[in-house]
Amino acid sequence: MLLDILILLLLAPALVGSSGETFNDDVLGLIVFKAGISDPESKLSSWNEDDDTPCNWFGVKCDPTSSRVTELSLSSLSLSGHINKGLLRLQFLRTLSLSNNNFSGSPNPNLGNIKTIQTIDLSRNKLSGSIPDEFFQQCVFLREISLAQNEISGPVPESLTSCSTLESVNFSSNQLSGSLPTHIWSLTELRVLDLSNNFLGGQIFEGVGNLYNLQEINLSSNRFYGNLPEDIGGCLLLETIDFSVNSLSGNIPASMGNLNMCTRLDLHGNLFTGEFPLWVGELRNLEIVDLSLNRFSGRVPNSLGNLQLLKELKLFGNQFSGGLPSSMRNCFSLTIMDVSQNELTGNFPSWVFELGLSFVWISGNKFSGSIELPPIAASYQKLQVLDLSRNAFSGGIPEGVGNFSCLQLLNMSGNSLEGAIPASIGELKSMDVLDLSNNRLNGSIPLEIGEAVLLQELRLENNFLSGKIPTQIGKCSSLSYLDLSKNNLSGPLPAAIANLTNIQDVDLSFNNLSGSLPKELTNLSHLTSFNISHNHFEGELPLGGFFNTIPPSSVSGNPSLCGSAVNHSCPSVHPKPIVLNPNSSSNSPPGSLSSNVHRKKIILSISSLIAIGAAVFIALGVVTITILNIHVRSNMSQAVISLSAGGDSHSPSPDANYGKLVMFSGDAEFVCGANSLLSKDCELGRGGFGAVYRTTLRDGRSVAIKKLTVSSLVKSQDEFEREIRQLEKARHSNLVALEGYYWTPSLQLLIYEYISNGSLYRHLHEDLEGNCLSWNHRFNVILGSAKGLAHLHQMKVIHYNLKSSNVLIDSSGEAKIGDYGLVKLLPMLDRYVVSSKIQSALGYVAPEFACRTVKITEKCDVYGFGVLVLEIVTGKKPVEYMEDDVVVLSDMVRAALDEGRVEECIDRRLHGNFPVEEAIPIIKLGLICASQVPSNRPDMGEVVNILELIRCPSEGQEELE
Ligand SMILES: *[C@@H]1O[C@H](CO)[C@@H](O)[C@H](O)[C@H]1NC(C)=O
Ligand SMILES: *[C@@H]1O[C@H](CO)[C@@H](O)[C@H](O)[C@H]1NC(C)=O
Ligand SMILES: *[C@@H]1O[C@H](CO)[C@@H](O)[C@H](O)[C@H]1NC(C)=O
Ligand SMILES: *[C@@H]1O[C@H](CO)[C@@H](O)[C@H](O)[C@H]1NC(C)=O
Repeated sequence: MLLDILILLLLAPALVGSSGETFNDDVLGLIVFKAGISDPESKLSSWNEDDDTPCNWFGVKCDPTSSRVTELSLSSLSLSGHINKGLLRLQFLRTLSLSNNNFSGSPNPNLGNIKTIQTIDLSRNKLSGSIPDEFFQQCVFLREISLAQNEISGPVPESLTSCSTLESVNFSSNQLSGSLPTHIWSLTELRVLDLSNNFLGGQIFEGVGNLYNLQEINLSSNRFYGNLPEDIGGCLLLETIDFSVNSLSGNIPASMGNLNMCTRLDLHGNLFTGEFPLWVGELRNLEIVDLSLNRFSGRVPNSLGNLQLLKELKLFGNQFSGGLPSSMRNCFSLTIMDVSQNELTGNFPSWVFELGLSFVWISGNKFSGSIELPPIAASYQKLQVLDLSRNAFSGGIPEGVGNFSCLQLLNMSGNSLEGAIPASIGELKSMDVLDLSNNRLNGSIPLEIGEAVLLQELRLENNFLSGKIPTQIGKCSSLSYLDLSKNNLSGPLPAAIANLTNIQDVDLSFNNLSGSLPKELTNLSHLTSFNISHNHFEGELPLGGFFNTIPPSSVSGNPSLCGSAVNHSCPSVHPKPIVLNPNSSSNSPPGSLSSNVHRKKIILSISSLIAIGAAVFIALGVVTITILNIHVRSNMSQAVISLSAGGDSHSPSPDANYGKLVMFSGDAEFVCGANSLLSKDCELGRGGFGAVYRTTLRDGRSVAIKKLTVSSLVKSQDEFEREIRQLEKARHSNLVALEGYYWTPSLQLLIYEYISNGSLYRHLHEDLEGNCLSWNHRFNVILGSAKGLAHLHQMKVIHYNLKSSNVLIDSSGEAKIGDYGLVKLLPMLDRYVVSSKIQSALGYVAPEFACRTVKITEKCDVYGFGVLVLEIVTGKKPVEYMEDDVVVLSDMVRAALDEGRVEECIDRRLHGNFPVEEAIPIIKLGLICASQVPSNRPDMGEVVNILELIRCPSEGQEELE
């Protein structure tokens, strides 16, 4: 479209003037290249087509004598678009670097044909498609090629191997498949071969030994299988070897013992067998050795002690046995050692402290004996991780443990350690995780624990600890996981626990704790589990927050505890009648809800009381309707009196256990078979946020009632009402009006006006006796939805869940948007839960949802609107599943537009009855709204303006082009 025109405009005068040698092709080539891309940060503003030479342009370097372009370096400039033919005009180009941009499309097959080119770096872009065979067919000087970190698929072309000048090939992190090109080892100039992180498979065949220049080979994270080639030892210059994460098997070839230059050997995550190769100790330059997650067995050889440059040794997840050789105390450079999950035996290798390692994992072996700390050790200032878990260590935890001033993780769980936890633990000021669980520790939890202020996870479960839980624990303000279960702890739960605002999981089960539970616990807003079962707690369970939905198993085994979760009512709290308060909120002045909405007193019949009461218990699933029915009848007169008494001063405050119904106007008596309100018969549908039911008020008005899915995270009444007020204010003729709501801690209903004519989804995708929406009708729906959304955004409400099943059509054919802003009503949902809630809206979800770091703004609705527009115009669903294909509507339309056949996308059921001058601009508008980049999407106010312009083609067409 626009770009083609631009390129044509640029080409035309140039062609006219290209009669002689005076004309410099480089300027034209670069300008055409620039015309094909988008340069949001205007980095190429110095590229001026009026210049005679491009040699002073940003990113361009010329040969000083010929003034022809030899180098183009445009890395990391946020450029996007296709790399077009313009570059082919640069006949003297030697170096092309476009890495770390957003270039898309498939690699241009002719780039490799620029005769002079030596280096091509297109890494870290969004190139897709396969590598064209032609790319390498005419290479003359090509030495380095990198297509790493793109989305390129298909095989590595065989033609690559004809490019005998190649020294470096980097195709890592793509989706390449197939096997290695047959003649790949004929590229004898190769120094670097990186094909890592693809889907390549097959065997790595012999012949690699010919590559006597090879310094680095990385075939990691592919699907190669079979043995390593025996002749690999011929690559005498190899420094870096990475065959990790494949399915390679057999023994490691002995010829590798010749690779004296090797600094890095990574074979982890394969199926290799056999013993630890003895020759590893002869490769004196080794710095990193990773053999983990294989099937190696036998002993770790003494010769490892020769490796004075060794920094990292990872052997975890094999079947190595015997002790770690004491010769390793000569590995002076060692900082990381992971030998966990083997069958190693012997005493604790205390040399790890003398050498000053930073990370030590020896868990899951059979080490035994006591843990001794040397008086002075290099590790006291260096050790960050010490994991000794699941061995057979005995004796006490040494007092000197407090000397490890940088320790972040200390895990000694699953041993046979005895004695008390040393008070010096409080000196571990950097510690995040302390796990001493599953030992035989006794004594009490040291008060000094409160000094470990960065502690996030404290696990002391399954020991013999006694005494009280120290109040000081309340100072560990980062704590999110606390497990003290299965000990002999006694005394009360300190109220200071309520100060741990980040706490998520608490397990205190199977102790002798007693006393009542601090009320403040309900303030802990991140709690996901709180297990106090099998103790001697007494009194009332806290009410509110997490505790409304606490599972009974988390509180069982405390005979003196009362509350609904333990199914044991508290003596002080008698069942009360259902009290319905006509006022919106007891603590806000009348009229604050909405100044122009008249509020009426509500008279409720027995039937509606039962209906709503029943709904509460449907949600709770505890008591049967009959019991409630009797209960309500007996208290009926009282309820009605308290309601008709009316005035603000007299009305009882809403009771936390029962609900509060508020209608913003009109009557509130439900007549649709009261008992069956919220029953399957009245159900209209279900969405990510809950089921919708239809019922009729006594004044004849129909309403739709939405029951919010009860999540374990209930919002407080105040917060809920604050959000409701926001939604209620957003009245607009293109929004489904919110008429009222009902609130209890366990059940929330939203009462909406009932829209008779069904959803847009039904009209578009469920054939209503062949009645297909006319073009005019579709246009109206698009415009109406745009106005509704624009209004929501003006009221600072984000919809979050726009889709055709949430756009309703009223009896006069107007669009009304429903289900807006509900995310705010469900509390504490993080982005992740939100996106999983609205997964049903597949295809409408803006790409930024996937990215936790991007802020979600109203632009996500604009994206959904764009998709909705395309859906309305094409009559196709946003994502359609074919036999073995998935068609994404916006991609399909975008492609059709590029190919100039977008008219074919318009709904065939219209039989051509639509004005093209409206349809095409609307499609383009839809595509712009559905841009990947939020800032490229217009705001809804602009969209409404544009739509109104499209309506009058004579006035506003050009603006959209
Ligand atoms: C590519 O585009 C995305 C937005 O789509 C942007 O966040 C990213 O920074 C861009 N990358 C580069 C390297 O310019
Ligand atoms: C291959 O390219 C990627 C991405 O630019 C880079 O991270 C990696 O280090 C390169 N591989 C080699 C062996 O240089
Ligand atoms: C090999 O490639 C993988 C994935 O691209 C990378 O993570 C790894 O660090 C590379 N190995 C070496 C030794 O550079
Ligand atoms: C909780 O923290 C506050 C503020 O840091 C402090 O004043 C209060 O004493 C603490 N409560 C308990 C029970 O320790």
